[in-house]
Amino acid sequence: MKKDLLSIQDLGSQEIFEIINLAEDIKADRVKYQEALKGKSIGLIFQKPSNRTRVSFEIGMFQMGGNSIYLGSSEIGMGGRESVKDVACVLSRYLDGIVARTYKHEVLEELAKYASVPIINGLSDMDHPCQALSDMFTIEEKFGTFERVTVSYIGDGNNVLNSLMCLTAKLGVNMRVATPKGYGPDKDIVKTAKSFAAKSGSTIDISNDPKRAAKGADVLYTDVWISMGQEKEAARRVRAFKNFQLNDRLAKLAKNTHVVMHCLPAHRGQEITNSVMDSRHSIVYDQAENRMHVQKAILLKLLK
Ligand code: CP
Ligand code: NVA
Repeated sequence: MKKDLLSIQDLGSQEIFEIINLAEDIKADRVKYQEALKGKSIGLIFQKPSNRTRVSFEIGMFQMGGNSIYLGSSEIGMGGRESVKDVACVLSRYLDGIVARTYKHEVLEELAKYASVPIINGLSDMDHPCQALSDMFTIEEKFGTFERVTVSYIGDGNNVLNSLMCLTAKLGVNMRVATPKGYGPDKDIVKTAKSFAAKSGSTIDISNDPKRAAKGADVLYTDVWISMGQEKEAARRVRAFKNFQLNDRLAKLAKNTHVVMHCLPAHRGQEITNSVMDSRHSIVYDQAENRMHVQKAILLKLLK
């Protein structure tokens, strides 16, 4: 039976560790996998712009001997020119898998319902599972373990946080979150993440206090204040988030050994200062690189 990756909730802990371990092997020996997906093709249905997700999936497929085709919104017009169902059914006849970046998460669910090939979420308004998996891979790479690592996320309660919170909870990693009032993570996702945390024995601390989140943290993580599709709310959001900037003052509260993470694209000078983004603690480019290694592992697991 085909398996989709729409959110972290689709993966068991065992599968998560398998993906992380496989990514490690792929990163160490790219040549070993150069024909691993020979003859396979994926489509990239993107309703929003992308740098990392698009390029890392396309090059990842290429490096494993497979092929990818980019389908921007003006091309196939999913949901406009043609129904989501028809797109799913037709593309399933050509492709071995589909990576989709949508506004509404429900569109992904509809794609997954009708497609006979795996659907991989390349970001929706609710989730960004490939990002979270790469982020935790990067954290393990940097710290050599997940044990006693505290991840602190300061900023918007958005798609990136939703996936990260569920994944840290599944992996038993403690998480602290600080968002402005009214911009916290989705309540149902918090409930789900807390149930994962209860099982793994980790904690999730959600507050409106960035200092509380940053104090003694191993990982300081932030993302944009204005996600794709929220452009009309920009002015209001900039006002609401002004005390949640990841700057030197906040970074000083973290451990000396802390790392700084951002899924990118970053709005330098807004959610993160140049000094933090370019500091010796910043691992944002390793984080971006690892998208490719981890997604190769995801493709290998789902397309086989
Ligand atoms: N982090 C991330 O998904 O980047 P892109 O939007 O550039 O793909
Ligand atoms: N939260 C951001 C992530 C971009 C990778 C957005 O949805 O635009």
